[in-house]
Amino acid sequence: MCGIVGYTGPKRVVPVILEGLRRLEYRGYDSAGVVYLQDGRLIKHRAEGKLVNLENRIDDAIIAKAHIGLGHTRWATHGAPTEENAHPHSDCSGDLVVVHNGIIENYHSLREDLKSKGHVFSSETDTEVLAHLIEEHLKDDLVEAVKAALKLVDGSFALGVLWAKQPGTLIAARNQSPLVLGVSEDNGMLMASDIPALLPYTNKVVFLEDMEMAVITASSYAVSSLETGAEVEKEVKIIEWNAAMAEKAGYKHFMLKEIYEQPQAITNTLSGRINPETGEVFIPEVNLTSEDVTKIDRIFLVACGTSWHAALVAKYWIEKYARIPVDVDIASEFRYRDLVIDERVMTISISQSGETADTLAGIRIAKQLGSKVITICNVVGSTMTREADGTVYTHAGPEIGVASTKAFTAQLAALFLLTLQLGQLKGTVSLEKSLELGRALIDVAAVIGRDLKKMQNQIAELIETFYDARDFLFVGRGLSYPIALEGALKLKELSYIHAEGYASGELKHGPIALIDKDMPILALVPKDAVYQKSISNVEEIKARQGRLILIGTEGDDHLKNITDDVIYMPEVHEEMNPLLYTIPAQLLSYEIANRRGCDVDQPRNLAKSVTVE
Ligand code: G6P
Repeated sequence: MCGIVGYTGPKRVVPVILEGLRRLEYRGYDSAGVVYLQDGRLIKHRAEGKLVNLENRIDDAIIAKAHIGLGHTRWATHGAPTEENAHPHSDCSGDLVVVHNGIIENYHSLREDLKSKGHVFSSETDTEVLAHLIEEHLKDDLVEAVKAALKLVDGSFALGVLWAKQPGTLIAARNQSPLVLGVSEDNGMLMASDIPALLPYTNKVVFLEDMEMAVITASSYAVSSLETGAEVEKEVKIIEWNAAMAEKAGYKHFMLKEIYEQPQAITNTLSGRINPETGEVFIPEVNLTSEDVTKIDRIFLVACGTSWHAALVAKYWIEKYARIPVDVDIASEFRYRDLVIDERVMTISISQSGETADTLAGIRIAKQLGSKVITICNVVGSTMTREADGTVYTHAGPEIGVASTKAFTAQLAALFLLTLQLGQLKGTVSLEKSLELGRALIDVAAVIGRDLKKMQNQIAELIETFYDARDFLFVGRGLSYPIALEGALKLKELSYIHAEGYASGELKHGPIALIDKDMPILALVPKDAVYQKSISNVEEIKARQGRLILIGTEGDDHLKNITDDVIYMPEVHEEMNPLLYTIPAQLLSYEIANRRGCDVDQPRNLAKSVTVE
């Protein structure tokens, strides 16, 4: 949700900033802007819409000398997505600029106060208040002025500040929005909202914590507390990802590349965590003992969006194998409920980014109430991983497409492993059972890898009849129900077709009224424990002339009697169906969106990392 980049060092700043913004564009693409210092003057370029509009306005030749600057890609919160509201925002003098990710909650009263002191505003944003507030406190010490200003601010911020009169210094500050420094002896110093922007220059990073500030020069950084002013020792972390991992590698879209990376993402997530000979599961990072697990009365799974769908699948697994009751909550609801949580409750957050504001707030509350908190997360060093008692990393690699794909299947793999570990520690899953299930998980990755291309070809052909539909239903029972929800979410976010997911058995309680000959319904009907029930529900749809697409198990000829549009999936262990059946649902949405000419990687109004509530 908004991406910020800052750079100072030997390289020409504008290409570094633009490359960084390109790598952060998944965070928002309502407008983009860059500012650099040249010949003692701050020069700003801003443009409405995507980064390419900004790039088209910049004549690279004239900015050869600038070596310090800031950039921003915006997801609008306060103020329309116009050029006036695009960051960077300046103070009255034009000598100070600010880029910001987050929300200044008391911006209205601050703005009124600053106006009464003579400050003139030129945008509708909350961010501009920061520029004027710093100006109000600025005499000759930028650091002190930023500190004084931030003391008056309520809300969340990741902030970059540059002042023409202190030409070699950038200021970074963070509270509840992510910010990470990139450290390189040869390439200079960077700050960014997320790691991919740093990777072309360094893999050495320093994560800022809430209420920390960094003063950055081309060869140094110093971090201090915004509250006490005391210096803070920071650990430099080495990131294993490389810059090429965040590239399209010949695929038309990041999303397609990431769909194809799923077998590897699942395999990497399993790697070293399950003994393929004995079935023993090994996740030392969560630090759980048999005693801990025996004490757990209940588990809360907390997440948003696609990650919430992974939680819904995990409920079935954990209850079945670890025999612990599970509640699944949407984080934005969880955080404002009167929760019944104590130390006998374990809370598991699921998040690709590890920065989603509602999920983060949820685990903070759970922790305060005494719950042990574990997070399933893809981004190493992200805030959630630093605050949880233990992390199960998904090793999916950087996910750039706004619609989550490989992070989801990797989350499922991690959650299944965690289920086995809980079951082993509690004594409800034998090593023999664990071995059978563990092998099934390893096998499903291979099956997906083998059949992905075939599935894509088949689906690309099938969607010719459906791509212009106005509405779409996705239905499934049991483990397929969350996948129906995920299929519907994917379709609506990518192609803007209205789509809903339902539990098949729930159709007759209302949604069946929607069905007529124009309504496409994708039904997931694997040969599983609820197969017969699913088929009865499909028959009910057929009786009302719904346009059925069935996804079922190879060899199930009965499906062909129901509809011509059947996609057959190889038979895998029943528990693995959610991983396998997600793939055609993803591909269907991808192909429809592509066919309709939609922006697959950056759907309208969305952002990948939602760091505001
Ligand atoms: C946004 C993204 C979704 C993602 C959700 C949760 O809405 O567009 O793809 O599932 O946030 O994000 P998280 O990083 O917490 O998994």
